[in-house]
Amino acid sequence: MPFRVATFLLSSIVGGAIAYAFFRASFFWIGAWAGAAFWLLLDAVRAQRLLNVMRRDVSALPSRGSGVWGELAERIRKVLRERDLQIRQSHDRLQEFLAAIQASPNGVVLIDEQGRIEWCNETAAQQFGIDPKRDLQQHLANLVRDPAFVAYLASWNYSRDVVIDAPAQPTGRNQPVRLSMQVHPYAGNRRMLLTRDITALEQADTMRRDFVANVSHEIRTPLTVLAGFVETLQSLPLDAEERSRYLRLMAQQSHRMETLVNDLLTLSRLEGNAPPPVSQWTPVRALLAHCEEEGRALSKQITTQGHKLSFSQEAESELSGASVELQSAMSNLLSNAIRYTPGGGEVMVAWRLLPDGRGEYSVRDTGPGVSAEHIPRLTERFYRVDRSRSRETGGTGLGLAIVKHIAQRHGGELRIESTVGKGSRFALVLPVARVRPAAAVSLRA
Ligand SMILES: Nc1ncnc2c1ncn2[C@@H]1O[C@H](COP(=O)(O)OP(=O)(O)OP(=O)(O)O)[C@@H](O)[C@H]1O
Ligand SMILES: [Mg+2]
Repeated sequence: MPFRVATFLLSSIVGGAIAYAFFRASFFWIGAWAGAAFWLLLDAVRAQRLLNVMRRDVSALPSRGSGVWGELAERIRKVLRERDLQIRQSHDRLQEFLAAIQASPNGVVLIDEQGRIEWCNETAAQQFGIDPKRDLQQHLANLVRDPAFVAYLASWNYSRDVVIDAPAQPTGRNQPVRLSMQVHPYAGNRRMLLTRDITALEQADTMRRDFVANVSHEIRTPLTVLAGFVETLQSLPLDAEERSRYLRLMAQQSHRMETLVNDLLTLSRLEGNAPPPVSQWTPVRALLAHCEEEGRALSKQITTQGHKLSFSQEAESELSGASVELQSAMSNLLSNAIRYTPGGGEVMVAWRLLPDGRGEYSVRDTGPGVSAEHIPRLTERFYRVDRSRSRETGGTGLGLAIVKHIAQRHGGELRIESTVGKGSRFALVLPVARVRPAAAVSLRA
């Protein structure tokens, strides 16, 4: 400020002095006034320049001018720079925050007091079939019209969630998507809606209930039979032959229960166990020999005329994995073929390498076959095509579920082909990584 006053006075004095020197002494004051007016004009021009720059583009402010206007420009520049930085930082923070909500697997919708959408993430938009930009400010109840949800939103009682079918169902999914939605009020009357896809959870729940019901049913049947026999033995005077017949039937039923429990234990072990080892190799020849032994014994045991059994091995190979599991899967497929093919029928077991290097163990039979609608369900737990026939043969309906599990654990698959009246072909296909030629081992060893 003193600088301004000093320059102002200096300008007046210089004006007065010039007038005094070039004109007369009486012109001194006129010269001083003219000097002061010149200073004021110059000052106004600089102020106007600063104003013009600020109106257009603040970044064009002079970096460091002289005098009060230069100082002012510098200070304004500093304040504006700080403000810009703050705005940029809070914008970046908001973007990061929104990106985090976008990445959430749950849907998030922010709703204003009137129930209009203020913001929603992609997940919610997909679940509701709405456009996250175009549908902003739309009433949510107009877009999600499920009566249970509309009533829930209007109730202002959000202590629990509401479960509905998702308004937008993804194409190619035959199961409807189930959504659990819960509103959480915030900042007065604003609301945040969280949605969660609970389809898998509900499916698992249904499967668990079905499983418990199936197991109970499977155990109850032989148990009822056993209880009946016990009662008969207790209440009726029976001769020795009848007694031994009843005891034989009772032994059969208890054996059935034992098999069921063993199969259930096998399944739960398969589910909980670590993946099968890759370094443990077993020759296919040994696995096939065991199958053959078991198969011939079973065939003799259940039929008088037996089956025409054949075993072939196109390549000498070794398999890596849990040998007990592999053996169990192979025996399971063979025992099915023998049990479901009437005596005199043919059962052909073969091992071969597929053109892509994978290994295939197959069991073909000339049994009754399975119609197409049953094939996809054969590997479900307790699924049997013909319950009475399976009962006769003592099956629990868990065999193929176990085989499929073992195949998957080894990175392979179970293939089923069947024609009613002609026979079936069950094949266990193992990936390249789990198959190697047996000769290579002896060379390496
Ligand atoms: N080779 C086959 N020929 C015809 N039907 C078959 C054959 N293999 C399986 N099935 C059908 O598939 C159903 C399921 O087989 P799975 O091996 O899972 O159960 P199971 O044989 O009934 O009982 P488990 O094997 O547990 O003793 C059988 O009940 C049977 O109806
Ligand atoms: Mg079976």
